[in-house]
Amino acid sequence: MSASAAVAEGRAVFADSFDTWRSAARDLLAHGIAPHQVQWTEVEGGGDLFAMAAPAGRGDAVEHATPGPPFQLQVSRALMELLQTAACCRVPDRWAFLYRVLWRWQHGEHDVASPADEDGARLTGMAKAVSREIHDMHAYVRFRERAPEAGPPRFVAWFEPQHDVLPQVAEHFRHRMGGATWMIATPAATVMWDGTTLHSTGPLLTGAAAIEDAGEALWLTYYRSIFNPARLNTQVMQGHIPSRFWKNLPEGAIVPAMVTEAANGARRTGQAQAVGQRKGRTVPVAPESAQPERDEPSTLDQCRRCDLWKNATQGVPGEGAKRARIMLVGEQPGDQEDIAGHPFVGPAGQLLERAIARAGLDRKKLYVTNAVKHFKWEPRGKRRMHKTPAQREVDACRYWLEGELASVRPQVVVALGSTALKAVLDNPGATLKESIGEPFMHDGRWVVATYHPSFALRVPDAEAREQAFDAIVVALERARQLGAP
Ligand code: URA
Repeated sequence: MSASAAVAEGRAVFADSFDTWRSAARDLLAHGIAPHQVQWTEVEGGGDLFAMAAPAGRGDAVEHATPGPPFQLQVSRALMELLQTAACCRVPDRWAFLYRVLWRWQHGEHDVASPADEDGARLTGMAKAVSREIHDMHAYVRFRERAPEAGPPRFVAWFEPQHDVLPQVAEHFRHRMGGATWMIATPAATVMWDGTTLHSTGPLLTGAAAIEDAGEALWLTYYRSIFNPARLNTQVMQGHIPSRFWKNLPEGAIVPAMVTEAANGARRTGQAQAVGQRKGRTVPVAPESAQPERDEPSTLDQCRRCDLWKNATQGVPGEGAKRARIMLVGEQPGDQEDIAGHPFVGPAGQLLERAIARAGLDRKKLYVTNAVKHFKWEPRGKRRMHKTPAQREVDACRYWLEGELASVRPQVVVALGSTALKAVLDNPGATLKESIGEPFMHDGRWVVATYHPSFALRVPDAEAREQAFDAIVVALERARQLGAP
């Protein structure tokens, strides 16, 4: 039934693609049916996708499709292209709106094609949104290669477009992918290239996870190799790749780590340059001793149990004697520890060294670690100020402390401060006040709780600082006695 006949019977006019809309619109215009008389209804998933992609002709001679009064309308090519592009924009009233535009044009209102007109502005906006989506799909569709025995298509991609741009995108990839067979699946439709013809069907897959991932490792290797930390601008990157695309990009999983590595690299380079500019004697160093020996990167570097890794230079593992009888546990690495990669090397570490020596212990025979292995900080001017870790971060990091306790098997654990005590006892309610100075057994080993060395540095009054220092020394002496063979 023609569109005009449907209207005459008081029924809705159906459109499922630009082509069906265009032929209905011709018929309605030929019969002089005004936009307010037509009720347009969208047919989901119908129509031939590739009919929508057919290029608009050189000015469209609109003729009546059903017998009626002689009728011809010349629509400018520019307007027809705009209508065709805007038709891909998923707005609920798209067919009715496009018909209003066409109607106005036919009635001499050629301003309707101009962005200065209210309808023209909307039309242009819809076309722009569609062009953006096409561009995004060209940039962010990622094909995964399937196992050869799975048969065609060789490459499969999943994407969730916001507008109906699959046909245009399919044309693009038909040229780009040469003779390889491929399929792009979306929630609304699927297109397939069999090497000679494009086919379209309804939705076939239910998400990115349904796609076999044979090509993922290859893609990640490629992405890593083209990633240039020197040119990294995260703001631009995030601006260019909106977050809704990241979840379906295979590189989405590795980009945060690469960004952090790049930031750390930049920080180290900056520090090296600053040090290089300092005055001083130049001491020639043999190349083999210029590179300090480093351990292989530990799995701690890959830790993502909480978010602290994001802003830290590196994870700082515990260190010391592998079978130490006494283990000292602090809170978390500080600014200097974060850069050096070793625990207690900054001001708190120096105070601790003095207390260790005063207590008659030898640091080399101890094992020194922290409850939390990444530096938590907040910027204050140019400085990175220590921020106490949250309980969830302490809990997340207990995995590493437990590993250290299991491997070192110390007889005595000295908890330096309340975060350390909570972590050692695995008790968020534990307080220093309850256990300070009085060793007790926990999990088959002695626990001695005392102040954190930073407390003995920070406390404003000199006498209190001295008392705190003495208390740390006493705790270490108790540990020495309890850990004696
Ligand atoms: N404070 C800590 O708790 N640990 C360190 O390693 C340094 C400072």
